[in-house]
Amino acid sequence: MEIVRLAWRVIRRIRAPLLNFKGALARVCSGSKLGATLYYWMFPGIFAGEQQGVLAGVVRAGRGGGGDVSRDSYILRRNIHRLEKALCMRPRRALFGLGYIRETVEVYGRLAGEAGGAADVTELGWAREVLDEYFRVIGEQEKIAEVRRSFEAYRNSIAAGDTCLPFKAGLRKREERWGPMLGELLQYRKSVRYFRPKPVPRSVLDEAVLAAGQAPSACNRQPFYFRIFDDPGLVRRIASLAMGTEGYREGIPVLAVVVGQLRAFDSERDRHVIYIDASLASMNFMLSLAAAGVDTCCINWPDIPERETSLRQVLNLEEDERVIVMIAVGYCDPDGMVGGARRKPLGRLRRYNFE
Ligand SMILES: Cc1cc2nc3c(=O)[nH]c(=O)nc-3n(C[C@H](O)[C@H](O)[C@H](O)COP(=O)(O)O)c2cc1C
Repeated sequence: MEIVRLAWRVIRRIRAPLLNFKGALARVCSGSKLGATLYYWMFPGIFAGEQQGVLAGVVRAGRGGGGDVSRDSYILRRNIHRLEKALCMRPRRALFGLGYIRETVEVYGRLAGEAGGAADVTELGWAREVLDEYFRVIGEQEKIAEVRRSFEAYRNSIAAGDTCLPFKAGLRKREERWGPMLGELLQYRKSVRYFRPKPVPRSVLDEAVLAAGQAPSACNRQPFYFRIFDDPGLVRRIASLAMGTEGYREGIPVLAVVVGQLRAFDSERDRHVIYIDASLASMNFMLSLAAAGVDTCCINWPDIPERETSLRQVLNLEEDERVIVMIAVGYCDPDGMVGGARRKPLGRLRRYNFE
């Protein structure tokens, strides 16, 4: 007992100087890229999990291997997006897509072989339509004659999708009432932490996931998915891994865990995209639920190695998958309190030009 007390006293004595030293070191190292690299080299645990995820992602995306359905699907989505963009370009180039049309047709062919199994026929239907349009617009071109023949060999194994070719922006119909309604919805949404023990219908949750899927994403890859838990035991188990649920985790009816897939990117430079895309989608998810009278609260998932390991095990995540955020979902307890959460004023939220 005496030894423990002594050790504790020593730790308390050296803790403050150590922290001061670490702070001073951080200040010095933060002034240069080399300094920052050295600093994090001295504390390697901080980014280790993220680094492993990013590396596993780029490998799965093609560097040093790759070649599975989900990786092919991300390549197809990106390349079909590029074709759409080129088809929309003003003025449209006479010849385009030469750098990636072969790869696009190859992944289309591989996925068409998997259609009905692991591959998504809706995605392939969309791809078929855009590829049809591409080859129609490009016309007979010697440079892509062979690729065209390959496409034609696979083409009919997939039914064309609902019409989803690029269209004029002015054809969309805007409703005047959306402006004020959206403003009210944005004001209405609050982070609710205390819920009634009332189940949330899966149809409402699915509707919200579809709304999440409407969010923009880089090259339309949508490198994320929602894991939704509505089994009380599982909700408790997973919510207890997050620190930010203290005091209300027992009463969360549904928990969504938003997971990003780094295999969507073949370069480290895109490592942040999962966070951006999944956050945009999460906001749609929460607003859709708010519109249906269902409340939510984002729950932070900080990068803490021990917790990360536990959650990865529970969710059985693959190496390149990262948890981005959790979202508690349920019907509010009307007597439960919510924060006023005053926002920054306009002047602090934006700067025009060089203001
Ligand atoms: C990324 C993110 C992480 C958050 N993490 C937590 C959390 O761990 N626990 C919690 O109770 N609230 C969490 N929140 C909710 C915020 O505290 C809340 O959005 C903020 O205070 C503004 O309040 P409002 O959402 O009611 O407008 C989180 C919000 C975001 C966007």
